[in-house]
Amino acid sequence: MKRVDDFRLMFGKKEYVPIMIGGMGVDISTAELALEAARLGGIGHISDAMVPDVSDRRYHTTFVKTKLKLYKHNINNSDKSSVQFDLGVLAEATRRHVESTMTARRGDGLIFVNCMEKLTMNAPRETLQVRMASALDAGIDGITLSAGLHLGSFGLLESHPRFRDAKLGIIVSSVRALQLFLRKNAKLNRLPDYVIVEGPLAGGHLGFGADWAQYNLAVITAEVIAYLKTEQLSIPVIAAGGIFTGSDAVSFLETGSAAVQVATRFTVADECGLPKKVKQEYFKASEDDIVVNTISPTGYPMRMLKGSPAIGAGIRPNCEAYGYLLDGSGNCAYITAYNRELALNPDIKTLSVLDKTCLCTQMRNFNLWTCGQTTYRLKDTTRRLEDGSYQSLSAEHIFKDYQFSTDQKVVLPDLVQS
Ligand SMILES: Cc1cc2nc3c(=O)[nH]c(=O)nc-3n(C[C@H](O)[C@H](O)[C@H](O)COP(=O)(O)O)c2cc1C
Repeated sequence: MKRVDDFRLMFGKKEYVPIMIGGMGVDISTAELALEAARLGGIGHISDAMVPDVSDRRYHTTFVKTKLKLYKHNINNSDKSSVQFDLGVLAEATRRHVESTMTARRGDGLIFVNCMEKLTMNAPRETLQVRMASALDAGIDGITLSAGLHLGSFGLLESHPRFRDAKLGIIVSSVRALQLFLRKNAKLNRLPDYVIVEGPLAGGHLGFGADWAQYNLAVITAEVIAYLKTEQLSIPVIAAGGIFTGSDAVSFLETGSAAVQVATRFTVADECGLPKKVKQEYFKASEDDIVVNTISPTGYPMRMLKGSPAIGAGIRPNCEAYGYLLDGSGNCAYITAYNRELALNPDIKTLSVLDKTCLCTQMRNFNLWTCGQTTYRLKDTTRRLEDGSYQSLSAEHIFKDYQFSTDQKVVLPDLVQS
Protein backbone atom coordinates (compact mmCIF):
# COMPACT_ATOMS: atom_id res chain seq x y z
CA MET A 1 0.00 0.00 0.00
CA LYS A 2 1.44 3.35 -1.05
CA ARG A 3 2.10 6.33 1.19
CA VAL A 4 2.62 9.96 0.24
CA ASP A 5 6.32 9.47 0.96
CA ASP A 6 6.56 7.08 -1.99
CA PHE A 7 6.05 10.07 -4.30
CA ARG A 8 8.09 13.19 -4.97
CA LEU A 9 7.21 16.57 -6.44
CA MET A 10 9.83 17.54 -9.03
CA PHE A 11 10.76 21.10 -9.91
CA GLY A 12 13.45 20.65 -12.54
CA LYS A 13 15.94 18.20 -11.06
CA LYS A 14 15.05 19.02 -7.44
CA GLU A 15 12.64 16.86 -5.53
CA TYR A 16 10.33 17.65 -2.64
CA VAL A 17 7.91 15.84 -0.35
CA PRO A 18 4.67 16.37 -2.30
CA ILE A 19 2.89 18.21 0.51
CA MET A 20 2.25 21.92 0.22
CA ILE A 21 0.65 23.84 3.08
CA GLY A 22 -1.67 26.41 1.52
CA GLY A 23 -1.54 30.14 2.15
CA MET A 24 -3.97 31.36 4.79
CA GLY A 25 -4.36 35.09 5.28
CA VAL A 26 -4.24 37.13 7.46
CA ASP A 27 -1.14 35.52 8.99
CA ILE A 28 -2.98 32.26 9.75
CA SER A 29 -0.34 30.47 7.71
CA THR A 30 2.46 32.03 9.73
CA ALA A 31 6.14 32.04 8.94
CA GLU A 32 6.54 29.41 11.69
CA LEU A 33 4.08 27.09 9.93
CA ALA A 34 5.65 27.61 6.51
CA LEU A 35 9.13 27.07 7.97
CA GLU A 36 8.08 23.69 9.36
CA ALA A 37 6.84 22.57 5.95
CA ALA A 38 10.15 23.59 4.39
CA ARG A 39 12.21 21.98 7.16
CA LEU A 40 10.38 18.71 6.57
CA GLY A 41 11.12 18.82 2.85
CA GLY A 42 7.76 20.09 1.60
CA ILE A 43 6.50 23.51 0.63
CA GLY A 44 5.04 26.12 2.96
CA HIS A 45 3.26 29.38 2.26
CA ILE A 46 3.22 32.68 4.01
CA SER A 47 0.55 35.14 2.88
CA ASP A 48 0.99 38.78 1.95
CA ALA A 49 -2.60 39.68 2.92
CA MET A 50 -2.60 42.92 4.96
CA VAL A 51 1.18 42.70 5.18
CA PRO A 52 1.68 46.19 6.73
CA ASP A 53 -0.53 45.07 9.62
CA VAL A 54 1.32 41.75 9.88
CA SER A 55 4.60 43.67 9.94
CA ASP A 56 3.35 45.91 12.76
CA ARG A 57 2.43 42.91 14.86
CA ARG A 58 5.53 40.89 14.12
CA TYR A 59 8.23 43.49 13.75
CA HIS A 60 6.81 46.42 15.73
CA THR A 61 6.56 48.81 12.81
CA THR A 62 3.77 51.40 12.87
CA PHE A 63 2.54 51.33 9.27
CA VAL A 64 -1.17 51.05 10.07
CA LYS A 65 -1.11 53.82 12.67
CA THR A 66 0.68 56.12 10.25
CA LYS A 67 -1.83 55.43 7.46
CA LEU A 68 -4.76 55.96 9.78
CA LYS A 69 -3.29 59.25 10.98
CA LEU A 70 -2.85 60.43 7.40
CA TYR A 71 -6.47 59.69 6.42
CA LYS A 72 -8.26 60.18 9.73
CA HIS A 73 -10.09 63.23 8.34
CA ASN A 74 -11.84 60.91 5.87
CA ILE A 75 -13.37 58.44 8.34
CA ASN A 76 -16.90 59.78 8.09
CA ASN A 77 -16.70 60.23 4.33
CA SER A 78 -18.20 57.34 2.39
CA ASP A 79 -16.00 58.22 -0.60
CA LYS A 80 -12.75 56.35 0.02
CA SER A 81 -11.11 57.08 -3.32
CA SER A 82 -8.45 59.30 -1.74
CA VAL A 83 -7.32 56.58 0.70
CA GLN A 84 -4.23 55.21 -1.01
CA PHE A 85 -1.49 52.84 0.05
CA ASP A 86 2.04 54.20 0.13
CA LEU A 87 3.85 51.88 -2.27
CA GLY A 88 7.16 52.39 -0.46
CA VAL A 89 5.59 51.22 2.79
CA LEU A 90 4.01 48.24 1.06
CA ALA A 91 7.38 47.25 -0.38
CA GLU A 92 9.10 47.63 2.98
CA ALA A 93 6.47 45.63 4.86
CA THR A 94 6.62 42.83 2.29
CA ARG A 95 10.41 42.79 2.34
CA ARG A 96 10.52 42.57 6.12
CA HIS A 97 8.09 39.70 6.30
CA VAL A 98 9.66 37.74 3.47
CA GLU A 99 13.28 38.41 4.48
CA SER A 100 12.73 37.46 8.09
CA THR A 101 11.02 34.23 7.00
CA MET A 102 13.62 33.31 4.41
CA THR A 103 16.51 33.95 6.80
CA ALA A 104 15.04 31.39 9.18
CA ARG A 105 14.52 28.72 6.52
CA ARG A 106 16.15 25.33 7.23
CA GLY A 107 15.91 22.03 5.40
CA ASP A 108 15.37 21.13 1.78
CA GLY A 109 11.90 22.50 1.21
CA LEU A 110 10.63 25.78 -0.20
CA ILE A 111 8.67 28.78 0.97
CA PHE A 112 6.19 30.54 -1.29
CA VAL A 113 3.99 33.57 -0.77
CA ASN A 114 0.25 33.50 -1.47
CA CYS A 115 -0.76 36.60 -3.40
CA MET A 116 -4.50 37.28 -3.76
CA GLU A 117 -5.55 39.42 -6.73
CA LYS A 118 -8.79 40.36 -4.99
CA LEU A 119 -6.81 42.52 -2.58
CA THR A 120 -7.22 45.42 -4.95
CA MET A 121 -6.03 48.04 -2.43
CA ASN A 122 -7.48 51.02 -4.30
CA ALA A 123 -4.83 50.66 -7.02
CA PRO A 124 -4.96 47.05 -8.24
CA ARG A 125 -2.09 46.96 -10.70
CA GLU A 126 0.41 49.12 -8.85
CA THR A 127 -0.06 47.44 -5.47
CA LEU A 128 0.03 43.91 -6.88
CA GLN A 129 3.19 44.69 -8.79
CA VAL A 130 4.89 46.06 -5.68
CA ARG A 131 3.75 43.12 -3.55
CA MET A 132 5.10 40.54 -5.99
CA ALA A 133 8.30 42.37 -6.91
CA SER A 134 9.28 43.04 -3.30
CA ALA A 135 8.64 39.42 -2.32
CA LEU A 136 11.02 38.38 -5.11
CA ASP A 137 13.55 41.04 -4.09
CA ALA A 138 13.46 39.67 -0.56
CA GLY A 139 14.29 36.16 -1.74
CA ILE A 140 10.97 34.29 -1.66
CA ASP A 141 11.26 30.93 -3.44
CA GLY A 142 7.99 31.34 -5.29
CA ILE A 143 4.67 33.11 -5.66
CA THR A 144 1.26 31.44 -5.74
CA LEU A 145 -1.24 33.64 -7.56
CA SER A 146 -4.68 33.22 -5.99
CA ALA A 147 -8.18 34.67 -5.64
CA GLY A 148 -8.49 35.96 -9.17
CA LEU A 149 -7.76 35.10 -12.78
CA HIS A 150 -4.42 36.96 -12.67
CA LEU A 151 -4.50 37.55 -16.42
CA GLY A 152 -2.04 40.44 -16.15
CA SER A 153 0.10 39.31 -13.20
CA PHE A 154 2.94 37.67 -15.13
CA GLY A 155 3.09 40.79 -17.29
CA LEU A 156 3.61 42.91 -14.18
CA LEU A 157 6.67 40.85 -13.30
CA GLU A 158 8.14 40.45 -16.76
CA SER A 159 11.00 42.88 -16.24
CA HIS A 160 11.91 41.56 -12.80
CA PRO A 161 15.34 39.86 -12.78
CA ARG A 162 13.86 36.82 -11.02
CA PHE A 163 10.88 36.44 -13.38
CA ARG A 164 12.32 33.33 -14.98
CA ASP A 165 14.06 31.73 -12.01
CA ALA A 166 11.52 32.05 -9.16
CA LYS A 167 8.76 29.46 -9.01
CA LEU A 168 5.49 31.03 -10.13
CA GLY A 169 2.20 29.18 -9.91
CA ILE A 170 -1.50 29.83 -10.12
CA ILE A 171 -4.59 28.52 -8.35
CA VAL A 172 -7.51 27.64 -10.64
CA SER A 173 -10.83 25.94 -10.07
CA SER A 174 -11.54 25.00 -13.70
CA VAL A 175 -9.82 24.12 -16.97
CA ARG A 176 -11.37 27.26 -18.41
CA ALA A 177 -9.58 29.53 -15.91
CA LEU A 178 -6.29 27.82 -16.72
CA GLN A 179 -6.86 28.13 -20.47
CA LEU A 180 -7.53 31.85 -20.11
CA PHE A 181 -4.38 32.33 -18.05
CA LEU A 182 -2.18 30.41 -20.48
CA ARG A 183 -3.60 32.15 -23.54
CA LYS A 184 -3.21 35.57 -22.03
CA ASN A 185 0.41 34.90 -21.14
CA ALA A 186 1.46 32.96 -24.23
CA LYS A 187 3.51 35.84 -25.62
CA LEU A 188 5.65 36.06 -22.47
CA ASN A 189 7.13 32.65 -23.20
CA ARG A 190 6.96 31.79 -19.53
CA LEU A 191 4.74 28.95 -18.30
CA PRO A 192 3.66 28.61 -14.70
CA ASP A 193 5.89 26.22 -12.74
CA TYR A 194 2.85 24.61 -11.11
CA VAL A 195 -0.92 24.75 -11.22
CA ILE A 196 -2.94 24.27 -8.07
CA VAL A 197 -6.44 22.96 -8.72
CA GLU A 198 -8.63 24.03 -5.83
CA GLY A 199 -11.95 22.25 -5.48
CA PRO A 200 -15.18 23.25 -3.73
CA LEU A 201 -14.34 21.88 -0.26
CA ALA A 202 -11.43 24.27 0.40
CA GLY A 203 -11.25 26.98 3.06
CA GLY A 204 -11.19 30.70 2.33
CA HIS A 205 -12.83 32.01 -0.84
CA LEU A 206 -14.12 29.55 -3.42
CA GLY A 207 -13.50 29.89 -7.14
CA PHE A 208 -17.06 28.77 -7.86
CA GLY A 209 -20.51 30.33 -7.83
CA ALA A 210 -23.50 29.41 -5.70
CA ASP A 211 -23.48 26.00 -7.42
CA TRP A 212 -20.13 25.09 -5.82
CA ALA A 213 -21.54 21.85 -4.36
CA GLN A 214 -22.00 20.38 -7.83
CA TYR A 215 -18.27 20.29 -8.48
CA ASN A 216 -15.77 17.63 -7.55
CA LEU A 217 -12.03 18.07 -7.05
CA ALA A 218 -11.06 14.70 -8.53
CA VAL A 219 -13.04 15.45 -11.71
CA ILE A 220 -11.62 18.96 -12.19
CA THR A 221 -8.08 17.78 -11.47
CA ALA A 222 -8.42 14.99 -14.04
CA GLU A 223 -9.71 17.52 -16.58
CA VAL A 224 -6.77 19.85 -15.96
CA ILE A 225 -4.26 16.98 -16.23
CA ALA A 226 -5.90 15.79 -19.48
CA TYR A 227 -5.89 19.31 -20.92
CA LEU A 228 -2.20 19.86 -20.17
CA LYS A 229 -1.41 16.48 -21.73
CA THR A 230 -3.29 17.39 -24.91
CA GLU A 231 -1.41 20.66 -25.08
CA GLN A 232 1.84 18.77 -24.41
CA LEU A 233 2.60 21.00 -21.47
CA SER A 234 4.52 19.45 -18.64
CA ILE A 235 3.39 21.45 -15.60
CA PRO A 236 2.98 19.83 -12.17
CA VAL A 237 -0.65 19.81 -11.07
CA ILE A 238 -1.35 20.11 -7.35
CA ALA A 239 -4.77 19.13 -6.00
CA ALA A 240 -6.33 21.07 -3.10
CA GLY A 241 -9.52 21.10 -1.08
CA GLY A 242 -10.84 18.43 1.26
CA ILE A 243 -7.74 16.19 1.26
CA PHE A 244 -7.85 15.11 4.88
CA THR A 245 -5.71 11.97 5.20
CA GLY A 246 -2.53 10.58 3.73
CA SER A 247 -4.68 8.06 1.85
CA ASP A 248 -6.78 10.87 0.33
CA ALA A 249 -3.52 12.44 -0.84
CA VAL A 250 -2.24 9.15 -2.29
CA SER A 251 -5.40 8.77 -4.38
CA PHE A 252 -4.54 12.09 -6.08
CA LEU A 253 -0.84 11.27 -6.44
CA GLU A 254 -1.69 7.92 -8.04
CA THR A 255 -3.91 9.58 -10.62
CA GLY A 256 -1.44 12.12 -11.91
CA SER A 257 -1.28 14.96 -9.38
CA ALA A 258 2.29 15.94 -8.61
CA ALA A 259 1.48 17.03 -5.04
CA VAL A 260 -1.39 18.06 -2.78
CA GLN A 261 -2.06 21.40 -1.13
CA VAL A 262 -3.63 21.11 2.31
CA ALA A 263 -4.63 23.66 4.93
CA THR A 264 -7.54 22.77 7.21
CA ARG A 265 -5.64 20.08 9.14
CA PHE A 266 -3.01 22.72 9.97
CA THR A 267 -5.45 25.34 11.30
CA VAL A 268 -5.20 23.66 14.71
CA ALA A 269 -1.40 23.33 14.67
CA ASP A 270 0.64 25.05 17.39
CA GLU A 271 2.38 27.08 14.68
CA CYS A 272 -0.85 28.29 13.06
CA GLY A 273 -1.69 31.96 13.66
CA LEU A 274 -5.28 31.51 14.89
CA PRO A 275 -5.71 32.34 18.58
CA LYS A 276 -5.95 29.30 20.87
CA LYS A 277 -9.62 29.96 21.63
CA VAL A 278 -10.49 30.04 17.93
CA LYS A 279 -8.65 26.76 17.37
CA GLN A 280 -10.98 25.21 19.94
CA GLU A 281 -13.95 26.46 17.89
CA TYR A 282 -12.52 24.66 14.87
CA PHE A 283 -12.08 21.46 16.89
CA LYS A 284 -15.60 21.63 18.30
CA ALA A 285 -17.33 22.30 14.99
CA SER A 286 -19.87 19.83 13.66
CA GLU A 287 -20.80 19.57 9.99
CA ASP A 288 -23.88 21.72 10.59
CA ASP A 289 -21.72 24.53 11.94
CA ILE A 290 -20.03 25.09 8.57
CA VAL A 291 -21.58 27.39 5.97
CA VAL A 292 -20.70 28.81 2.56
CA ASN A 293 -22.11 32.33 2.26
CA THR A 294 -21.66 35.53 0.28
CA ILE A 295 -20.76 38.00 3.02
CA SER A 296 -17.26 38.53 1.64
CA PRO A 297 -17.18 41.83 -0.30
CA THR A 298 -14.91 40.19 -2.87
CA GLY A 299 -17.92 38.64 -4.62
CA TYR A 300 -16.61 35.10 -4.11
CA PRO A 301 -18.46 32.65 -1.86
CA MET A 302 -16.54 31.95 1.32
CA ARG A 303 -16.68 29.03 3.76
CA MET A 304 -16.74 29.73 7.48
CA LEU A 305 -18.05 28.63 10.85
CA LYS A 306 -21.58 29.87 11.47
CA GLY A 307 -20.49 31.10 14.89
CA SER A 308 -18.02 33.64 13.39
CA PRO A 309 -18.50 36.95 15.22
CA ALA A 310 -18.09 38.70 11.84
CA ILE A 311 -21.47 37.42 10.61
CA GLY A 312 -24.04 40.17 11.04
CA ALA A 313 -21.57 42.62 12.60
CA GLY A 314 -22.13 46.20 11.51
CA ILE A 315 -18.91 47.98 12.38
CA ARG A 316 -17.91 51.21 10.67
CA PRO A 317 -15.76 50.55 7.59
CA ASN A 318 -12.13 50.77 8.53
CA CYS A 319 -10.62 51.69 5.18
CA GLU A 320 -8.48 54.53 6.50
CA ALA A 321 -6.46 51.99 8.50
CA TYR A 322 -6.88 49.02 6.15
CA GLY A 323 -8.73 49.38 2.83
CA TYR A 324 -7.38 46.22 1.21
CA LEU A 325 -10.60 45.49 -0.68
CA LEU A 326 -11.15 48.94 -2.14
CA ASP A 327 -11.43 48.56 -5.89
CA GLY A 328 -9.61 50.99 -8.17
CA SER A 329 -12.28 53.65 -7.51
CA GLY A 330 -12.38 53.44 -3.73
CA ASN A 331 -15.49 51.24 -3.47
CA CYS A 332 -16.12 48.13 -1.42
CA ALA A 333 -19.39 46.19 -1.23
CA TYR A 334 -19.30 46.43 2.57
CA ILE A 335 -19.30 50.24 2.49
CA THR A 336 -22.44 50.15 0.32
CA ALA A 337 -24.17 47.66 2.65
CA TYR A 338 -23.14 49.60 5.75
CA ASN A 339 -24.34 52.93 4.38
CA ARG A 340 -27.67 51.39 3.41
CA GLU A 341 -28.23 50.10 6.95
CA LEU A 342 -27.09 53.40 8.43
CA ALA A 343 -29.61 55.30 6.28
CA LEU A 344 -32.38 52.89 7.28
CA ASN A 345 -31.52 52.95 10.99
CA PRO A 346 -30.09 56.39 11.75
CA ASP A 347 -30.83 56.14 15.47
CA ILE A 348 -29.53 52.66 16.19
CA LYS A 349 -26.22 52.60 18.01
CA THR A 350 -25.10 49.08 17.12
CA LEU A 351 -25.91 48.36 13.50
CA SER A 352 -26.22 44.89 12.08
CA VAL A 353 -25.16 44.28 8.48
CA LEU A 354 -26.17 40.82 7.37
CA ASP A 355 -25.31 40.62 3.68
CA LYS A 356 -21.67 41.75 3.75
CA THR A 357 -18.82 41.98 6.23
CA CYS A 358 -15.89 44.31 6.79
CA LEU A 359 -13.49 41.56 5.74
CA CYS A 360 -10.27 43.47 6.51
CA THR A 361 -11.15 44.24 10.12
CA GLN A 362 -12.78 40.90 10.79
CA MET A 363 -9.96 38.81 9.32
CA ARG A 364 -7.37 40.97 11.02
CA ASN A 365 -9.06 40.40 14.40
CA PHE A 366 -9.62 36.66 13.78
CA ASN A 367 -13.38 37.17 14.00
CA LEU A 368 -14.15 35.55 10.66
CA TRP A 369 -13.48 31.87 11.10
CA THR A 370 -12.96 30.71 7.57
CA CYS A 371 -12.36 26.98 7.29
CA GLY A 372 -12.45 24.01 4.97
CA GLN A 373 -15.39 21.62 4.73
CA THR A 374 -13.49 18.92 6.63
CA THR A 375 -13.12 21.10 9.74
CA TYR A 376 -15.75 19.01 11.53
CA ARG A 377 -13.34 16.08 11.42
CA LEU A 378 -10.51 17.89 13.23
CA LYS A 379 -11.70 16.58 16.59
CA ASP A 380 -10.81 13.09 15.35
CA THR A 381 -7.20 14.11 14.80
CA THR A 382 -6.31 14.77 18.44
CA ARG A 383 -7.05 13.94 22.06
CA ARG A 384 -9.63 15.43 24.34
CA LEU A 385 -8.15 16.73 27.59
CA GLU A 386 -9.65 16.40 31.06
CA ASP A 387 -11.04 19.93 30.98
CA GLY A 388 -12.97 19.09 27.81
CA SER A 389 -10.68 21.06 25.47
CA TYR A 390 -8.82 19.54 22.55
CA GLN A 391 -5.06 19.17 22.48
CA SER A 392 -3.37 21.19 19.77
CA LEU A 393 -0.85 19.43 17.55
CA SER A 394 2.53 20.28 16.13
CA ALA A 395 2.76 21.04 12.43
CA GLU A 396 5.41 18.32 12.26
CA HIS A 397 2.97 15.75 13.60
CA ILE A 398 0.31 16.68 11.03
CA PHE A 399 2.80 16.87 8.18
CA LYS A 400 4.23 13.44 8.99
CA ASP A 401 0.75 11.99 9.37
CA TYR A 402 0.03 13.05 5.79
CA GLN A 403 3.42 11.79 4.68
CA PHE A 404 3.41 8.32 6.22
CA SER A 405 -0.10 7.23 7.12
CA THR A 406 -2.08 4.59 5.22
CA ASP A 407 -5.55 3.03 5.31
CA GLN A 408 -7.34 6.33 5.96
CA LYS A 409 -5.72 6.35 9.40
CA VAL A 410 -4.95 9.50 11.36
CA VAL A 411 -2.30 9.10 14.04
CA LEU A 412 -3.18 10.88 17.28
CA PRO A 413 -0.48 12.91 19.05
CA ASP A 414 1.04 11.73 22.33
CA LEU A 415 -1.03 12.95 25.23
CA VAL A 416 0.32 16.16 26.76
CA GLN A 417 -1.44 17.15 29.95
CA SER A 418 -1.86 20.89 30.20
C1 LIG B 1 -8.32 29.28 7.44
C2 LIG B 1 -8.05 29.26 5.97
C3 LIG B 1 -7.66 30.42 5.32
C4 LIG B 1 -7.38 30.41 3.94
N1 LIG B 1 -6.94 31.56 3.35
C5 LIG B 1 -6.54 31.52 2.05
C6 LIG B 1 -5.94 32.67 1.46
O1 LIG B 1 -5.73 33.69 2.11
N2 LIG B 1 -5.58 32.59 0.15
C7 LIG B 1 -5.77 31.43 -0.59
O2 LIG B 1 -5.43 31.39 -1.76
N3 LIG B 1 -6.31 30.33 -0.03
C8 LIG B 1 -6.69 30.35 1.27
N4 LIG B 1 -7.18 29.21 1.85
C9 LIG B 1 -7.23 27.96 1.02
C10 LIG B 1 -6.01 27.06 1.32
O3 LIG B 1 -4.80 27.68 0.97
C11 LIG B 1 -6.08 25.68 0.63
O4 LIG B 1 -5.92 25.74 -0.75
C12 LIG B 1 -7.33 24.88 0.90
O5 LIG B 1 -7.98 25.23 2.09
C13 LIG B 1 -6.96 23.39 0.94
O6 LIG B 1 -8.03 22.60 1.32
P1 LIG B 1 -8.19 22.00 2.81
O7 LIG B 1 -8.31 23.16 3.72
O8 LIG B 1 -9.44 21.20 2.72
O9 LIG B 1 -6.97 21.16 3.11
C14 LIG B 1 -7.50 29.20 3.21
C15 LIG B 1 -7.90 28.04 3.88
C16 LIG B 1 -8.17 28.05 5.23
C17 LIG B 1 -8.58 26.78 5.91
